[in-house]
Amino acid sequence: MIAPAPAAKAASPERYPHRDLLGIEGLTAEQIAYLLDKSETYVAQNRQVDKRSAILRGRTLVNLFFESSTRTRTSFELAGKRLGADVINMSAEGSSIKKGETLIDTAMTLNAMHPDVLVVRHQESGAVALLSKKVSCAVINAGDGSHEHPTQALLDAVTIRRRKGKIRGLLVAICGDILHSRVARSNIQLLNIMGARVRVIAPPTLIPAGASQMGVEVHHDMRKGLAGCDVVMMLRLQSERMQGSFVPSVSEYFHFYGLDYEKLEYAKPDAMVMHPGPMNRGVEIDTEIADDISRSAIAEQVEMGVAVRMAVLDALSERLPNFVPGNGN
Ligand code: NCD
Repeated sequence: MIAPAPAAKAASPERYPHRDLLGIEGLTAEQIAYLLDKSETYVAQNRQVDKRSAILRGRTLVNLFFESSTRTRTSFELAGKRLGADVINMSAEGSSIKKGETLIDTAMTLNAMHPDVLVVRHQESGAVALLSKKVSCAVINAGDGSHEHPTQALLDAVTIRRRKGKIRGLLVAICGDILHSRVARSNIQLLNIMGARVRVIAPPTLIPAGASQMGVEVHHDMRKGLAGCDVVMMLRLQSERMQGSFVPSVSEYFHFYGLDYEKLEYAKPDAMVMHPGPMNRGVEIDTEIADDISRSAIAEQVEMGVAVRMAVLDALSERLPNFVPGNGN
């Protein structure tokens, strides 16, 4: 019997093989690098007068936000519009969710209107993945509870790579409310996959159980934790996810864990400072550092947010039904 011929290799390998972007978990270093490289082309495009392209022409993007957002929602809206999509913004306020409709019923209702992409933020970890199983369009997780926020980790990675020229081998400190932070979880995974070393620095009450199994070094003292770091990422106290009190007082928290110039001295002299926003000045970060553009990359992170979301939409568009390559879809 003649053995069947081996299947022909695809001419161009699939670089983002998923319908959705639900988390950093499950992505490979190659897929992440592909999204980061694609983002760079959009950084350049967004600095031109004409920022538009037609990749999503005729497509509909629905922003479905069950939690508040400034940066993420606006940047997905801009990203969708710049790629030529019709964008609709829905928040839990003012929708039938307030009348008791379930997440799944809301999703099924929107799905019946044939959106191409749903961008979803929800207060429950796992809710976005659940919703993605009930709809036929592409789904992007814009933050689910304290679980994942993949586009934030991607935009942080682009920002780091632009300032430091690489990710591999860097020492990154993530400081503050690690326990409740989806930004921390997505960043820890991405940075590990891309070959950085990660430290988390927080009081014991704000470190998740089993943190050391997440591929991080755990520190409770800012001075020791920041020593030798290339990147210092500060996080807000997520009081909306706290039941009870996790820190004695805001002023005591700032004293021990707030980033000021004195503590920043312990990091490398050229260490960059990051924050996903929204910032609570004087709680986790000193107001002067936040505005010090020689150290702080916070404004750049916001700029990268639009480019990264365009890159993600572009990558997902290749798997949308009726995609025609090079036809200005
Ligand atoms: C973060 C979030 O929503 O998880 N914000 C953001 O998307 N830039 C962080 C936060 O809310 O503290």
